[in-house]
Amino acid sequence: SSGGETTEEPTATATEDSVVPDNVVIGSDIPYRPFEYETTSGELTGFDVDIAQAIFEEQLGVSYEFKPTSFDSIIPSLNNNNFRIIMSAMTINDTRAEKVDFSDPYFTAYQTVIVRANGDISSKEDLKGQPVGVQKGTTGSTAAEELKTEFDGDLTLKQYDQINGAFQALINGQVVAVINDNTVNAEFANQRDDVVFLEGEGAAAEAGQEAPPYLTLTVENYGIAFRQDDDEFREKVNEALAAIKEDGTYDEIYSEYFSG
Ligand code: ARG
Repeated sequence: SSGGETTEEPTATATEDSVVPDNVVIGSDIPYRPFEYETTSGELTGFDVDIAQAIFEEQLGVSYEFKPTSFDSIIPSLNNNNFRIIMSAMTINDTRAEKVDFSDPYFTAYQTVIVRANGDISSKEDLKGQPVGVQKGTTGSTAAEELKTEFDGDLTLKQYDQINGAFQALINGQVVAVINDNTVNAEFANQRDDVVFLEGEGAAAEAGQEAPPYLTLTVENYGIAFRQDDDEFREKVNEALAAIKEDGTYDEIYSEYFSG
Protein backbone atom coordinates (compact mmCIF):
# COMPACT_ATOMS: atom_id res chain seq x y z
CA SER A 1 0.00 0.00 0.00
CA SER A 2 1.14 3.53 -0.74
CA GLY A 3 -0.29 4.76 2.52
CA GLY A 4 -2.04 7.55 0.65
CA GLU A 5 -5.60 8.64 1.02
CA THR A 6 -8.24 6.54 -0.66
CA THR A 7 -11.22 8.03 -2.42
CA GLU A 8 -12.89 4.70 -3.13
CA GLU A 9 -16.43 4.18 -1.97
CA PRO A 10 -16.74 1.33 0.48
CA THR A 11 -18.24 -1.68 -1.30
CA ALA A 12 -20.83 -3.99 0.23
CA THR A 13 -19.28 -7.14 1.58
CA ALA A 14 -20.03 -10.13 -0.60
CA THR A 15 -20.90 -12.32 2.36
CA GLU A 16 -23.75 -10.14 3.55
CA ASP A 17 -27.20 -11.20 2.32
CA SER A 18 -29.25 -8.45 0.74
CA VAL A 19 -32.63 -7.83 2.35
CA VAL A 20 -34.49 -9.10 -0.71
CA PRO A 21 -32.22 -11.14 -3.00
CA ASP A 22 -32.61 -10.91 -6.80
CA ASN A 23 -33.22 -14.63 -6.85
CA VAL A 24 -34.66 -16.43 -3.83
CA VAL A 25 -33.30 -19.96 -3.49
CA ILE A 26 -35.82 -22.16 -1.69
CA GLY A 27 -34.97 -25.48 -0.02
CA SER A 28 -37.72 -28.09 -0.34
CA ASP A 29 -38.21 -31.84 -0.16
CA ILE A 30 -39.77 -32.88 -3.47
CA PRO A 31 -42.10 -34.66 -4.22
CA TYR A 32 -44.66 -33.83 -1.57
CA ARG A 33 -47.80 -33.63 -3.61
CA PRO A 34 -49.83 -31.36 -3.78
CA PHE A 35 -47.35 -28.89 -2.24
CA GLU A 36 -44.26 -29.47 -4.39
CA TYR A 37 -44.06 -32.05 -7.18
CA GLU A 38 -43.33 -32.45 -10.86
CA THR A 39 -46.03 -32.85 -13.48
CA THR A 40 -45.74 -35.75 -15.92
CA SER A 41 -43.98 -33.35 -18.30
CA GLY A 42 -41.38 -32.58 -15.62
CA GLU A 43 -42.57 -29.14 -14.62
CA LEU A 44 -42.33 -28.18 -10.94
CA THR A 45 -45.73 -27.25 -9.55
CA GLY A 46 -47.80 -27.31 -6.36
CA PHE A 47 -49.37 -25.09 -3.74
CA ASP A 48 -46.02 -23.94 -2.29
CA VAL A 49 -44.66 -23.26 -5.78
CA ASP A 50 -47.64 -21.09 -6.70
CA ILE A 51 -47.44 -19.24 -3.37
CA ALA A 52 -43.71 -18.63 -4.01
CA GLN A 53 -44.56 -17.31 -7.47
CA ALA A 54 -47.14 -14.93 -5.98
CA ILE A 55 -44.91 -13.71 -3.13
CA PHE A 56 -41.59 -13.40 -4.92
CA GLU A 57 -42.33 -12.69 -8.58
CA GLU A 58 -45.62 -10.86 -8.29
CA GLN A 59 -45.27 -9.05 -4.95
CA LEU A 60 -41.53 -8.56 -4.46
CA GLY A 61 -40.49 -8.51 -8.14
CA VAL A 62 -37.68 -11.03 -7.85
CA SER A 63 -37.14 -14.53 -9.21
CA TYR A 64 -37.11 -17.74 -7.21
CA GLU A 65 -35.93 -21.31 -7.63
CA PHE A 66 -36.59 -24.50 -5.70
CA LYS A 67 -33.60 -26.56 -4.55
CA PRO A 68 -34.46 -30.21 -3.76
CA THR A 69 -33.24 -31.11 -0.28
CA SER A 70 -33.79 -34.03 2.10
CA PHE A 71 -36.46 -33.05 4.63
CA ASP A 72 -34.62 -34.69 7.52
CA SER A 73 -31.64 -32.32 7.17
CA ILE A 74 -33.42 -29.29 5.73
CA ILE A 75 -33.04 -27.03 8.80
CA PRO A 76 -29.26 -27.58 9.22
CA SER A 77 -29.00 -27.12 5.47
CA LEU A 78 -30.74 -23.72 5.69
CA ASN A 79 -28.42 -22.71 8.51
CA ASN A 80 -25.41 -23.80 6.41
CA ASN A 81 -26.50 -21.25 3.77
CA ASN A 82 -27.39 -23.83 1.12
CA PHE A 83 -30.49 -21.76 0.31
CA ARG A 84 -32.19 -18.64 1.66
CA ILE A 85 -35.49 -20.05 2.98
CA ILE A 86 -37.48 -23.28 3.37
CA MET A 87 -40.87 -23.77 1.71
CA SER A 88 -41.70 -27.42 2.15
CA ALA A 89 -45.15 -27.77 3.72
CA MET A 90 -43.21 -27.27 6.95
CA THR A 91 -45.10 -27.26 10.22
CA ILE A 92 -44.34 -24.48 12.68
CA ASN A 93 -43.37 -25.90 16.07
CA ASP A 94 -41.31 -24.98 19.13
CA THR A 95 -38.46 -27.42 18.49
CA ARG A 96 -37.90 -25.98 15.02
CA ALA A 97 -38.37 -22.41 16.24
CA GLU A 98 -35.22 -22.84 18.33
CA LYS A 99 -33.24 -23.11 15.08
CA VAL A 100 -35.21 -21.07 12.53
CA ASP A 101 -37.71 -18.20 12.46
CA PHE A 102 -41.07 -18.79 10.80
CA SER A 103 -43.24 -16.54 8.67
CA ASP A 104 -46.86 -16.04 9.63
CA PRO A 105 -48.82 -19.30 9.17
CA TYR A 106 -50.06 -19.92 5.63
CA PHE A 107 -51.84 -23.29 5.77
CA THR A 108 -53.58 -25.51 8.36
CA ALA A 109 -52.91 -29.24 8.33
CA TYR A 110 -53.63 -32.32 10.44
CA GLN A 111 -51.72 -35.53 11.02
CA THR A 112 -53.84 -38.38 9.70
CA VAL A 113 -53.61 -42.13 9.22
CA ILE A 114 -54.14 -43.97 5.95
CA VAL A 115 -54.48 -47.76 5.75
CA ARG A 116 -55.24 -50.41 3.13
CA ALA A 117 -58.93 -50.72 2.34
CA ASN A 118 -60.35 -54.12 3.36
CA GLY A 119 -57.40 -54.55 5.69
CA ASP A 120 -57.32 -55.43 9.38
CA ILE A 121 -57.01 -51.87 10.64
CA SER A 122 -60.23 -50.03 11.34
CA SER A 123 -59.41 -48.02 14.47
CA LYS A 124 -56.42 -46.35 16.11
CA GLU A 125 -56.25 -49.21 18.67
CA ASP A 126 -55.78 -51.73 15.83
CA LEU A 127 -52.38 -50.13 15.15
CA LYS A 128 -50.98 -51.50 18.42
CA GLY A 129 -48.06 -53.87 17.78
CA GLN A 130 -47.99 -53.06 14.06
CA PRO A 131 -45.42 -51.45 11.72
CA VAL A 132 -46.31 -47.88 10.74
CA GLY A 133 -44.61 -45.81 8.03
CA VAL A 134 -43.57 -42.15 8.30
CA GLN A 135 -41.25 -39.71 6.56
CA LYS A 136 -38.07 -39.11 8.53
CA GLY A 137 -37.84 -35.81 10.40
CA THR A 138 -41.51 -34.91 9.98
CA THR A 139 -44.29 -34.12 12.42
CA GLY A 140 -45.88 -37.35 11.17
CA SER A 141 -42.89 -39.12 12.66
CA THR A 142 -43.38 -37.22 15.94
CA ALA A 143 -47.09 -38.13 15.98
CA ALA A 144 -46.16 -41.79 15.48
CA GLU A 145 -43.66 -41.59 18.38
CA GLU A 146 -46.46 -40.24 20.57
CA LEU A 147 -48.73 -43.08 19.54
CA LYS A 148 -45.96 -45.50 20.40
CA THR A 149 -45.76 -44.00 23.89
CA GLU A 150 -49.54 -44.29 24.18
CA PHE A 151 -49.16 -48.00 23.32
CA ASP A 152 -46.39 -48.44 25.95
CA GLY A 153 -43.81 -48.91 23.23
CA ASP A 154 -45.82 -51.45 21.28
CA LEU A 155 -45.58 -49.92 17.81
CA THR A 156 -42.86 -50.26 15.16
CA LEU A 157 -41.88 -47.05 13.39
CA LYS A 158 -40.52 -47.42 9.88
CA GLN A 159 -38.86 -44.23 8.73
CA TYR A 160 -38.56 -43.40 5.02
CA ASP A 161 -36.43 -40.65 3.49
CA GLN A 162 -39.34 -39.53 1.35
CA ILE A 163 -43.09 -39.87 1.76
CA ASN A 164 -43.42 -41.95 -1.41
CA GLY A 165 -41.28 -44.64 0.24
CA ALA A 166 -43.85 -44.87 3.04
CA PHE A 167 -46.73 -44.92 0.55
CA GLN A 168 -45.05 -47.74 -1.40
CA ALA A 169 -44.51 -49.70 1.83
CA LEU A 170 -48.23 -49.42 2.58
CA ILE A 171 -49.11 -50.87 -0.82
CA ASN A 172 -46.50 -53.62 -0.45
CA GLY A 173 -47.74 -54.58 3.01
CA GLN A 174 -44.47 -53.67 4.79
CA VAL A 175 -46.43 -51.25 6.98
CA VAL A 176 -50.12 -51.29 7.92
CA ALA A 177 -50.51 -47.50 7.99
CA VAL A 178 -48.87 -44.21 7.03
CA ILE A 179 -49.07 -41.20 9.37
CA ASN A 180 -48.74 -37.98 7.41
CA ASP A 181 -50.30 -34.59 6.60
CA ASN A 182 -54.00 -34.86 5.65
CA THR A 183 -53.96 -33.23 2.21
CA VAL A 184 -50.92 -35.23 1.09
CA ASN A 185 -52.48 -38.47 2.33
CA ALA A 186 -55.70 -37.44 0.56
CA GLU A 187 -53.90 -36.84 -2.71
CA PHE A 188 -52.53 -40.40 -2.53
CA ALA A 189 -55.70 -42.10 -1.21
CA ASN A 190 -57.93 -40.35 -3.74
CA GLN A 191 -55.92 -41.83 -6.61
CA ARG A 192 -56.46 -45.38 -5.41
CA ASP A 193 -59.33 -47.67 -4.46
CA ASP A 194 -57.17 -49.72 -2.11
CA VAL A 195 -56.17 -46.94 0.35
CA VAL A 196 -58.49 -45.16 2.82
CA PHE A 197 -58.32 -42.84 5.80
CA LEU A 198 -58.69 -44.27 9.28
CA GLU A 199 -61.92 -42.86 10.63
CA GLY A 200 -62.61 -41.26 13.98
CA GLU A 201 -62.57 -37.88 15.62
CA GLY A 202 -59.59 -36.34 17.25
CA ALA A 203 -57.42 -33.28 17.51
CA ALA A 204 -59.30 -31.13 15.00
CA ALA A 205 -62.65 -31.61 16.75
CA GLU A 206 -61.01 -31.05 20.15
CA ALA A 207 -59.57 -27.78 18.89
CA GLY A 208 -63.11 -26.76 17.95
CA GLN A 209 -62.22 -26.73 14.27
CA GLU A 210 -64.44 -27.92 11.49
CA ALA A 211 -63.07 -31.44 11.53
CA PRO A 212 -62.06 -33.38 8.42
CA PRO A 213 -64.22 -36.52 8.15
CA TYR A 214 -61.50 -38.80 9.51
CA LEU A 215 -59.17 -39.28 12.48
CA THR A 216 -56.87 -36.32 13.17
CA LEU A 217 -53.92 -36.77 15.54
CA THR A 218 -52.77 -33.11 15.54
CA VAL A 219 -53.63 -29.63 14.29
CA GLU A 220 -50.65 -27.85 12.68
CA ASN A 221 -49.79 -24.74 10.70
CA TYR A 222 -47.28 -24.42 7.89
CA GLY A 223 -44.78 -21.58 7.78
CA ILE A 224 -41.90 -20.44 5.60
CA ALA A 225 -38.63 -20.89 7.54
CA PHE A 226 -35.83 -18.29 7.65
CA ARG A 227 -32.44 -18.12 9.28
CA GLN A 228 -32.62 -16.35 12.62
CA ASP A 229 -30.65 -13.35 11.35
CA ASP A 230 -33.02 -12.70 8.44
CA ASP A 231 -35.69 -10.54 10.12
CA GLU A 232 -35.92 -7.84 7.45
CA PHE A 233 -36.50 -10.32 4.66
CA ARG A 234 -38.97 -12.25 6.82
CA GLU A 235 -40.93 -9.03 7.40
CA LYS A 236 -41.08 -8.35 3.64
CA VAL A 237 -42.33 -11.87 3.01
CA ASN A 238 -44.98 -11.54 5.74
CA GLU A 239 -46.18 -8.31 4.12
CA ALA A 240 -46.35 -10.00 0.73
CA LEU A 241 -48.22 -12.97 2.24
CA ALA A 242 -50.75 -10.60 3.82
CA ALA A 243 -51.14 -8.83 0.46
CA ILE A 244 -51.92 -12.03 -1.46
CA LYS A 245 -54.42 -13.08 1.23
CA GLU A 246 -56.01 -9.64 0.94
CA ASP A 247 -56.23 -9.42 -2.86
CA GLY A 248 -57.68 -12.89 -3.50
CA THR A 249 -54.55 -14.47 -4.99
CA TYR A 250 -54.16 -16.82 -2.03
CA ASP A 251 -57.78 -18.01 -2.31
CA GLU A 252 -57.39 -18.54 -6.04
CA ILE A 253 -54.32 -20.74 -5.50
CA TYR A 254 -56.03 -22.54 -2.62
CA SER A 255 -59.08 -23.47 -4.68
CA GLU A 256 -56.85 -24.69 -7.50
CA TYR A 257 -55.45 -27.43 -5.25
CA PHE A 258 -58.15 -27.92 -2.63
CA SER A 259 -61.45 -27.44 -4.38
CA GLY A 260 -62.83 -30.39 -2.42
N1 ARG B 1 -45.72 -30.90 7.66
C1 ARG B 1 -44.84 -31.96 7.97
C2 ARG B 1 -43.66 -31.44 8.76
O1 ARG B 1 -43.44 -30.27 8.83
C3 ARG B 1 -44.32 -32.70 6.76
C4 ARG B 1 -43.61 -31.86 5.77
C5 ARG B 1 -42.89 -32.65 4.70
N2 ARG B 1 -42.61 -31.80 3.60
C6 ARG B 1 -42.08 -32.22 2.46
N3 ARG B 1 -41.97 -31.37 1.48
N4 ARG B 1 -41.66 -33.44 2.33
O2 ARG B 1 -42.91 -32.18 9.31
